[in-house]
Amino acid sequence: MTLLRGDALSAAFDHGSAAYDRLVAASPGYHAHLRRSARRLGLPDGGRGLRVLDLGCGTGASTAALLASAPYARITGVDASAGMLERAATKSWP
Ligand SMILES: C[S@@+](CC[C@H](N)C(=O)[O-])C[C@H]1O[C@@H](n2cnc3c(N)ncnc32)[C@H](O)[C@@H]1O
Repeated sequence: MTLLRGDALSAAFDHGSAAYDRLVAASPGYHAHLRRSARRLGLPDGGRGLRVLDLGCGTGASTAALLASAPYARITGVDASAGMLERAATKSWP
């Protein structure tokens, strides 16, 4: 097993970013589990007045799950991979 860190980890996600959404779509329950995890945060009142940090947001799958649970929160996605963020940026966000 190879442990990737720092630039090597970002480069690996950059490389995989084009296929990432298709990969997780083929993973049964991936999005449902993200949504369940987001609900379990128990953010009150749809997230009104809250700021939420999605650290390692990737292409935005976890961000979308947070948004579904807390549509009024101000959600910031952060990721070390420019490629993953570029994919996220092609999507429609409120
Ligand atoms: C398995 S993906 C998950 C992406 C997204 N949250 C999702 O649910 O599909 C992990 C993400 O974390 C990012 N990541 C890993 N370590 C990081 C770090 N130290 N700082 C910022 N992003 C990081 C990677 O670039 C990658 O996009």
